[in-house]
Amino acid sequence: MLYLFSIVQYSRIWGTLYIWLAMALTVAGQSRQELNFNRGWWFKLDSSRQYVSEKRGEGWRLLDLPHDWSIEQPFRQHSPAGSGAAYLDGGIGWYQKSFVLPASAVGQRVFIAFEGIYQNSEVWINGHFLGRRPNGYIGFEYELSAYLHKLGRENVLTVKVNNKEQPNSRFYSGSGIYRDVKLVIRNPVSLATGGTFIKTLHLDESRALVNVGLEIENTKGDAPITVLTELISPQGKVVASKQSRLNKLRAGMTRCSQDVSIDRPILWDIESPHQYKAVVQLLANGRVLDRQETKFGLRQFSFDEKQGFVLNGRQRKIRGVCLHSDLGALGMAFNRSAALRQLRLMKQMGANGIRTSHNPAAPALLDLCDSLGFVVMSETFDVWKGQKNPFDYHLYWDQWHQRDFADHVKRDRNHPSLFIWCLGNEAQEQWHARADGKTIPMALSAIVDSLDGTRPTTIANNEMSKDNPVLMSTAVDLVGYNYNHKKWASFPQDHSGKKFIVTESTSALASRGQYDLVPYDSVRMWPERWDIPFDGGNNDKSISAYDHVFTPWGSDHHTSLKLLETYDHIAGMYVWTGFDYLGEPTPYTWPARSSYFGIVDLAGFPKDVYYLYQSVWTKEPVLHLLPHWNWQQGDRVDVVVYFNQADRVELYLNGKKIGDQAKNADRYDLVFKGIAYEAGTLEAVSYRHGQKVRSSSVRTAAEPYQIKLIAESPTLDVDAKELSFIHAYIVDQFGTLVPEASPEIEFGVEGDGANLVATDNGNTVDHSRFQSRSRRAFHGKALAIVMGGKPGSIVVTAKSPGLHPGRVEVRAR
Ligand code: GAL
Repeated sequence: MLYLFSIVQYSRIWGTLYIWLAMALTVAGQSRQELNFNRGWWFKLDSSRQYVSEKRGEGWRLLDLPHDWSIEQPFRQHSPAGSGAAYLDGGIGWYQKSFVLPASAVGQRVFIAFEGIYQNSEVWINGHFLGRRPNGYIGFEYELSAYLHKLGRENVLTVKVNNKEQPNSRFYSGSGIYRDVKLVIRNPVSLATGGTFIKTLHLDESRALVNVGLEIENTKGDAPITVLTELISPQGKVVASKQSRLNKLRAGMTRCSQDVSIDRPILWDIESPHQYKAVVQLLANGRVLDRQETKFGLRQFSFDEKQGFVLNGRQRKIRGVCLHSDLGALGMAFNRSAALRQLRLMKQMGANGIRTSHNPAAPALLDLCDSLGFVVMSETFDVWKGQKNPFDYHLYWDQWHQRDFADHVKRDRNHPSLFIWCLGNEAQEQWHARADGKTIPMALSAIVDSLDGTRPTTIANNEMSKDNPVLMSTAVDLVGYNYNHKKWASFPQDHSGKKFIVTESTSALASRGQYDLVPYDSVRMWPERWDIPFDGGNNDKSISAYDHVFTPWGSDHHTSLKLLETYDHIAGMYVWTGFDYLGEPTPYTWPARSSYFGIVDLAGFPKDVYYLYQSVWTKEPVLHLLPHWNWQQGDRVDVVVYFNQADRVELYLNGKKIGDQAKNADRYDLVFKGIAYEAGTLEAVSYRHGQKVRSSSVRTAAEPYQIKLIAESPTLDVDAKELSFIHAYIVDQFGTLVPEASPEIEFGVEGDGANLVATDNGNTVDHSRFQSRSRRAFHGKALAIVMGGKPGSIVVTAKSPGLHPGRVEVRAR
């Protein structure tokens, strides 16, 4: 190990010895360092060679992580990845990084920590093999200490990523080192990764008692140490501390724990997600050997067969959405600001729950959920032992599932936003291999019990038969239903005494801005059956956004939403999905390459049903009117409003009242059927007790005239790799969005080091690469995603022949 190398060994001459000694002394008191290791990796896509000890030759390029190479590939109809993975190829990719150790590593242990590599990674340091990890979503680390070169000499990390065998996923997984990488330097006596667990033992208004459980690694000889834990309040004050002495910390792993009490605790809640911080220090002879900060929250919750979900003494509904891990045009390459953008949009819609379907999420996503106040259902597996695809996780199940799941639980168990462990999604064991259907839930629950024990478990079932051993498993705490909304009301009779959560719902379909001129209530089930190929639909692979198209296993949005809000015994529901995602273009296949399920499209533009949820789930006054108002004279158009805080809505066409309806107690929307189209302005006005609440209008757009650019945020933080999301709207000379405009827009970016990362428009059949500078508008809109380089001004421009160009400025901080 590095720390065992004597200083004399390192030093050939006395002068060097002096420097080494000086360095060793300055770092002696240094505790843990976690260095961001994302920058400067060489990459090559190459299935034909091994690059472990071979020199890099032609064809390597330098990039910064996180990186997803699949998102750079062209869409290919015959890609072996298939429709599930968005017709984007996998392959074998190599990454290499050369680095010189910082002086602070002398005498310390050194680890490389990956937060996620999809998939089948193998890692070498200086030609020495460190290990292989098939799972593409769980983080892992390797100790490098023994194989590192002495200070000043270059070390080489090599990572092989094998995502060649396809298909291996039902949804887009991306390929590569797509999450953060850190170099962790810590003392021979230090806290083990994932070993810290803060548990609330008691909580009432006046006092909280928390247990701080620790795992301490000691790769030195026996030694005395002191463990000092300080708890910091949400306001940043030390509110409690505890010191324990370990007279003889033996070599190897030692578990210890401290009970610490907090007076007048401040609770974590959905609207007020206050977090505490535990600062744990390991001390010896006045030196800090290790120092680690762990955030945690104090909250009391239970699930109840009658009341559903109770948080801090209040009955609540989990109003959740399912999210896949891809970030649309960015693919899987994780970016905190892109994840924050998604979560903010969901919060503004009124969602308070996230299901990380169907795999462990990026750690930073959980941090964001902690600080924004979401109730997270964290899921580990889409596949157990029974396969869904020829090369999916079933191949690794026997050897890896215990380790993967335990690592997941240990990684995430301190997050206050995490409330439920979901052990699996629609496992094949519901139908086949009956014995496994019983034993797997038991084995996975046992892992949660032993490593957590403070949160309930569930499993997402889509087979409702009582012969389903997974559904009937007594090993889990909550019965989870995917879909089957017609059986939600009768759950208390069907599963007497059990607690109920809708793990997945809805799967309704829509293209943003697309309205088929069929009656609003003409419900369409696409496909007709899950097992019969679909050859219907619209020729251009679009789907009408009136909330009247859905899958046979799902429902329209309104139906599931209404049921959730009606029945107390339903603890919550996670809608499939908050955002469109790459792959799974149900009901279509090629050329469609991304999903239609999202409440928000792939580019981040809300579809109409966003406002349905917002009207029910928030206290914001909502009055949303659809469709657009560009039709042909003589067309009969159903007009729909989503609204709240009102008992009546009036409709005006060019100032003339053409409709007046009272709220329907059974519905959240109102429909004005068959309105005779006439160009101009259609306006809705909502009233409560005769008082006007809000008005909202749509206007007939004239010819496309100009591109209007709007930045979601006026600034971006360069160091944090914040992205700027720029909306491009095709408007007429009066500023009205032209709903059917689809010109090709060419984006430009000026600014020191700034660059255009991706463009998108939410169109599921658009095959230009996401990195392309030019993008057609889709129903009048497109998106540009920009990254800053240096502080200063970034100017984004957009042009298209025949249109006045757009320009917007963003400040890079
Ligand atoms: C569910 C499944 C999801 C997604 C969805 C589409 O059955 O859990 O992953 O495939 O169907 O409707």
